Amino acid sequence: MGQYDARWFSSQAATWDDDPRKVDRARQAANAIAAEVPLDPSWRVLDYGAGTGLLAFALADRVGEILLLDFSDGMVEAARRRIAESGRAGMRAERHDLTQAPLPEGEQFDLVISMMVLHHVDDVPLLLKRLAAATAEDGWIAVLDLEPEEGEYHDPEFTGHHGFRRGMLRRALASAGFGHMTVRQVLQIEKPVDGAPRKFGVFLATARRESVRPSANGR
Ligand SMILES: C[S@@+](CC[C@H](N)C(=O)[O-])C[C@H]1O[C@@H](n2cnc3c(N)ncnc32)[C@H](O)[C@@H]1O
Repeated sequence: MGQYDARWFSSQAATWDDDPRKVDRARQAANAIAAEVPLDPSWRVLDYGAGTGLLAFALADRVGEILLLDFSDGMVEAARRRIAESGRAGMRAERHDLTQAPLPEGEQFDLVISMMVLHHVDDVPLLLKRLAAATAEDGWIAVLDLEPEEGEYHDPEFTGHHGFRRGMLRRALASAGFGHMTVRQVLQIEKPVDGAPRKFGVFLATARRESVRPSANGR
C-alpha cells in the first residue's frame, strides 16, 4: 500500500470534498448503481472505504440505513461531521478495517458498495470474502474501481493494484460467494500524467450473494 495508509488518508480528509469532480463522480456512480440494482428504501447498506461519505450521500435518498466504514480516523470524522450537519437519521460512520478483522457476526446488509478502495487493498479475495459474509443471502454488492492501467494513476511508490482485469475480478467475486455478475465501465477520471491530461476508466461490478440452500438430499 506504500504511502497510502490510514494516516495518509486522514491527512487528506479535510480537503477531500474540495474537488467538485469527486462530488460529480459520486453522483454518476450512484446513478450507475441505481441502473443495475433494484434499490429499495427498506434496504440496509454498507459503504466500505466510504471516505467522507460522497457516494453514501449520493445514494441515501434511494435506500434505508447506511453504515459507512473506513480505516482512516480522519475520513470517519469527516463522514460523521457530514452526517451530523445533514441531520439525517439512519447514517452512521465507524472506523473498521475488514482486512484485519471481520464484522461482528449477525451484521447483514442488503447492499454493499465500495468505490475506489479495492486497489488500495493487498488481499482483495480476503476483503471480498469478508464483504460477502456481511451481505444478506440474495443481497447485492456494487464495486467501483479502476480499469487496468499502466501504473500512472498513482505516484511511482504506489504498491497497490494498477486496476483490475475482468477475469481476476470475476474469479474473486465468485470464490467469495457472489454470482449473477455484471461489469461495465461507468465513468472516467481525468488526471494529468507528465503534464498531459489522461483519462482512466472506472468500472462498476455488481453481483448477488448466492443463496446457500440445502441440497435435495439434505446435505
Ligand atoms: C480513494 S478513497 C475513496 C473514498 C470514497 N469511497 C470515494 O469514492 O469518495 C479510498 C478510501 O478507502 C479507504 N481505505 C483504504 N484501505 C482501506 C481498508 N483496508 N479498510 C477500510 N478503508 C480503507 C481510505 O481511507 C479512503 O477513504
